[in-house]
Amino acid sequence: MVDVVDTSHAPPDTDVESKFRTRPPSRRSRVEKIALWSFRTLLLVPFVLMGPEIISYLLGQPGAATDVAESTADVFGTCSLLLMALMLAVTPVHTMTGWVWHLPLRRDYDVCMFITAAVDLILAALTTGEEFGGVLGRVGGRSFLMLGTLAVLLLIPLAVTSTRRAHRWLGSYWKKLHRLVYVIWAIVLLHLLLLFGFSGIFVQAVVVSAPLVLLRLPPVRRWWVEARRTHQHRIVRAAIALGLVATFVAGIRPVIAELSFKGRAAFIQQPID
Ligand code: HEM
Repeated sequence: MVDVVDTSHAPPDTDVESKFRTRPPSRRSRVEKIALWSFRTLLLVPFVLMGPEIISYLLGQPGAATDVAESTADVFGTCSLLLMALMLAVTPVHTMTGWVWHLPLRRDYDVCMFITAAVDLILAALTTGEEFGGVLGRVGGRSFLMLGTLAVLLLIPLAVTSTRRAHRWLGSYWKKLHRLVYVIWAIVLLHLLLLFGFSGIFVQAVVVSAPLVLLRLPPVRRWWVEARRTHQHRIVRAAIALGLVATFVAGIRPVIAELSFKGRAAFIQQPID
């Protein structure tokens, strides 16, 4: 990965560590490189799972459009949510551990979330049945559809300005622009609330979000970074870290289980309605 000043979605400038440079690839240890590439490999998951259905659709095979319509929100929607959670976890992990090897994942997951969500939008527009009307109805005919589409549209400026050149060109506006991610985060939660009410994947997304929000609160973040630097409160920090990681895992586990169930069905082209 390139040597970038990587402050995407970083919390306010209260901590000098939000201004670090990510380490150049040559200075990462072998273990760090393997870990980084393993996390990057996850980006292929939605395309592998949906590959057979999309190929059948492109080849014009009978029933393929219906299969894609049934799977796209389940696979691409769930993967977009997981990518968002992982992207938003990058900064809190840095706050807790001081690691920098994983920071390039913030940009990788950001861009891939956009691609995954955009493909979801395009497939929804092309393949959804007539229940929502024509193409416009399929992407905006209900409030939850409108919110999904809005989230994808708001991801465009983030993806387009994710390069080092755009970062330099935009200067201090870059960081302000990239705070849009928090608006997108709220819109996605609303999309899920309208779809599922106070249950299922909405509750899981809120549980996943809780530790990510907590570690972004400026006083919490300042306290943690200071304690880490001065090697204080080790037991307290370890206990809190355990609780936060357990909460994150408790929220994300059922989402991954759902994805593996529905993704497998999509892969063998027997989508679950
Ligand atoms: C950043 C963008 C988006 C995210 C993170 C997202 C996330 C999700 C998630 C996690 C689900 C639940 C899937 C499941 O039941 O397993 C879902 C469902 C759904 N999404 Fe989205 N979505 C996004 C954009 C969109 C767009 C653009 C559309 C269509 C225009 C859309 C339409 C739907 C529909 C129709 C469902 C219900 C699927 C069903 O229950 O069968 N979403 N979304």
